[in-house]
Order: sequence, then structure tokens, then C-alpha cells
Amino acid sequence: MQNNIFLGLFVGHNTVTLKAVDSTNSWLKQAVSKSAPLPEGTVIMAESQFAGRGQSQNTWHSEPGKNLTFSILLNPRFLPIQNQFDLNMAVSLAVNDVLKIYFGEDAYIKWPNDSYIGKNKIGGILIENILQGTQLKHAIIGIGINVNQDDFPPEVKNVTSFRKILHTYYDLNQLKNEICRSVEARYLQLKAGKKESLRKDYLDNLYLLNQQASYIFRDREVEGRITGISPEGFLLLETAEGVEQFGLKEIEFKRED
Ligand code: BTN
Repeated sequence: MQNNIFLGLFVGHNTVTLKAVDSTNSWLKQAVSKSAPLPEGTVIMAESQFAGRGQSQNTWHSEPGKNLTFSILLNPRFLPIQNQFDLNMAVSLAVNDVLKIYFGEDAYIKWPNDSYIGKNKIGGILIENILQGTQLKHAIIGIGINVNQDDFPPEVKNVTSFRKILHTYYDLNQLKNEICRSVEARYLQLKAGKKESLRKDYLDNLYLLNQQASYIFRDREVEGRITGISPEGFLLLETAEGVEQFGLKEIEFKRED
């Protein structure tokens, strides 16, 4: 029986757990386009995801049975397309709110939506929108969090997990429910139009905000300081040239070994 004590009103109430799937995002996207309507808040969770997808066409690797890999269906029809970064802020914050329970002030959001503990990545989010005309019809919120995985391939740098840091085993279902509840709370905040408080909380939790750091831009290293995020979600970076804005594929954070 599913333990729903950590859930809110609708996110996660309809949860389907699959033994193995290519990608929970792809599965949910297909289901939404083909089958009878699924309730908002439906969660598809995979024990094993063999072709997980990440941002910028990257792949998402996760050892079977050890980590959280799931997708949530939301229907943010109230959100104008040009404001879709607001949904990204709400979801990133929701995950960060839960991570803070376990890791305190070491938990950060790395722009645009990576979950970091200190200098290492513990999770990522892939949001895929389905439009109807010019309106957002569905958003597939894919969340991957490293939980009980201890070893990572040597080529995967700056990666961590609950287990690597806290040295204990965590119940995946309970953690998934905590995240679902948190996503619901932040989503309802967005739906209620409390955009400014979301923006403030996002910036308060942003990795390297107002700190001097190195970035890679057009294969060159540049020094800069993140001063904010534009309403469309661009990174605002102050460099020697002044404040410039960058999109996701234009700039990389320089890795610290
Ligand atoms: C990233 O950091 O690049 C985003 C990673 C998102 C991974 C999750 S795992 C569940 C869902 N299904 C996918 O194929 N991807 C997302």
C-alpha cells in the first residue's frame, strides 16, 4: 500500500511505478498525448531508467533501484508562455526546500535548475512543455535525485548523493512524497500569483549569486559575478564588459576540482 502521509492535495496521489522504462518524461509525454486524460499531479516513477534524459540533450545516468527518477504532470494553463521560467523557479525551489531539510544551507540551486550540495550536483530537473496553440497545456516535470548510489563513473565529475554525504540509506518513496508535497506548495504559490516571493526565494538560494567566479564563454574563461536572472530566465553576469545576459547553451560554469 502506498504511504501517502507526506503528500498534499493532488501531486502524487496518482502514482504509477514502473520497473523499467527508457525515460519517465518520455513515457508521460506519450501517455498525455495518447490515452484518456490523466489527473493533474500524476507521477510516473521508475525503478530503472535506461535512457534517462537531461538538459541540453545530455543523458541522465542512474543506478537501477538506488535513486529517484520520476516525472510529474502539471497543467499550468494559467501561465503565459513567456513566463515559463517562473515554473522552473517554482520547481527548483521545491526540490531545494526538501534538500535543505537534510543538508541545511549547503543546498543550492545552480542556474537554471540543478540541485547542488556545496560544489557538487545531487540532482537535476528537466521540464518539457506541451503547448496548445500559444498556451501551455501540460508541463512534464522530470526530477532525478541521487539518493542511495555510492559510486559514480570516474568520468562523472562533481557529483554526489544523499548516501555519499550522510552515509545512510533513504527510503525512496518517502523522499519522493516529500518532494511531491513541496512541488505542490510552490506550484500553488505560483498559481496564486506570488511571483515576486518566488523570485526572491530563488535568488536567495542561487549558487554563486554575487560571488566572483570563472565561467566558460565561447571556449574562453571569463571572470564574472552573477547579479540576477532576467524575467525570461537569462543569467545576468557582470564581467569586465559590464552586465551581460546569457542563455543556457551560451555559458558554462567552470568546474572546480
Ligand atoms: C539535468 O540535470 O540535466 C536534468 C536531469 C533530469 C533527469 C530526470 S530523471 C526523471 C526524468 N526522466 C528523464 O528522462 N529525465 C528526468
